[in-house]
Amino acid sequence: MSSLHRFDCACAILHGGGSRYQVGSLAKELGGRRALIVTDPGVVAFGFADEIAASLKEAGIESVVFSEVQPDPTKQNVLDGFEALKQNNCDLVVALGGGSPIDTAKVISVLPTNQADIATFAGLHKIPNAALPLIAIPTTAGTGSELTKVAVITDTARDVKMMMLSAPLQPRAAIQDFELTMTMPPALTAAVGVDTFTHGLEAYVSRKANAMSDPLALSCVSLVGKYLRRAYTDPGDREAREGMMVASGQGGMAFSNSSVCLVHGMSRPIGAVFHVPHGLSNAMLLPAVTRFSIGGAPHRYAEVARMLRIAEQDRSDGYACDALCEWLEALNCDLNIMRLSEWRNASAEKFHQFKAKMAQDALDSGSPANNPRVPTTEEIEDLYEKVW
Ligand SMILES: NC(=O)c1ccc[n+]([C@@H]2O[C@H](COP(=O)([O-])OP(=O)(O)OC[C@H]3O[C@@H](n4cnc5c(N)ncnc54)[C@H](O)[C@@H]3O)[C@@H](O)[C@H]2O)c1
Ligand SMILES: [Fe+2]
Repeated sequence: MSSLHRFDCACAILHGGGSRYQVGSLAKELGGRRALIVTDPGVVAFGFADEIAASLKEAGIESVVFSEVQPDPTKQNVLDGFEALKQNNCDLVVALGGGSPIDTAKVISVLPTNQADIATFAGLHKIPNAALPLIAIPTTAGTGSELTKVAVITDTARDVKMMMLSAPLQPRAAIQDFELTMTMPPALTAAVGVDTFTHGLEAYVSRKANAMSDPLALSCVSLVGKYLRRAYTDPGDREAREGMMVASGQGGMAFSNSSVCLVHGMSRPIGAVFHVPHGLSNAMLLPAVTRFSIGGAPHRYAEVARMLRIAEQDRSDGYACDALCEWLEALNCDLNIMRLSEWRNASAEKFHQFKAKMAQDALDSGSPANNPRVPTTEEIEDLYEKVW
């Protein structure tokens, strides 16, 4: 652990059942007069966008809904949303949905003050100027995007998911209302829940882990251990849904101020090429990548096993690390996580055609360099073979 770290976070986090009804007063506090609600058709169909618009109206704030965000949002989604923002003279952005609408809203909110090709935002600290105020309201638990300074936007021309990490992408405020996640079906609950776990785990074992991110990361993995299976088997379990929402935010804050590592590095290219949802591709990779990485930071992985209560405090690190690998495999089984080769459009031919490019894109993203064991391109290709 080096000694100098920076920790960015939102200035307000509202959480708890029903906190979404505070969006109007929060938007007023932030000085907004006209809001662009950025969301997607699935979220609109549940009536959530109407609830948010009504709360804004009650506080005297007009709003316009932009709902053309697709899963794994593209540059075009961002440009279309920016057009809607300009045409309607909006001075505040409200993101409502999973990571896709939230990430899209983040990049829309920096465009008025950072007029450049979106591709130039990819990488670390590439966005210089402050954004319009943004309130993020997640409906999945989740990416934790409501509490990160990260956005992931797909460049369809190059089949690359661009990762942007810059302070202006940090939402000014987040509203974590777990009631919005209760409509998630089990497969979505599982995928986004493993994404949350991966944020906590990778933030904790990362070479950039630090004293501020560590407690958040450990709390995140512990909450997922307690609640993910419950939320998966009983979508109406309010306590489990609330626990997963808290875990999601903590995991987001942890990794945004530490980093993600090899699982995320390898997951983004799978998303870009095969359009496997982000959480699901993480889950496909997690057991094999953990086995590969564990020797680089055995004590840290062992601590995660102890937080999960799958290894007693007096057991050796070796025992705890084995227990963690077995637990991850069992979790995938219980959540019915498929292999990459079982994904609907993943032919062996396409896999072999893209394997080398995916390995190179994974390395180029920078995330594998934060891993406790830094892989070569060949080792990444081997790992892709293992999870295929
Ligand atoms: N910015 C970050 O910090 C960060 C972190 C991790 C992942 N991501 C990115 O986030 C994206 C994935 O986000 P996601 O996994 O939250 O999914 P998503 O936003 O792509 O949504 C997936 C689907 O779930 C539906 N959905 C959303 N909420 C629902 C609900 N409550 N009930 C039923 N259906 C619902 C949506 O309509 C959509 O069809 C990826 O692009 C990933 O790269 C970003
Ligand atoms: Fe993630």
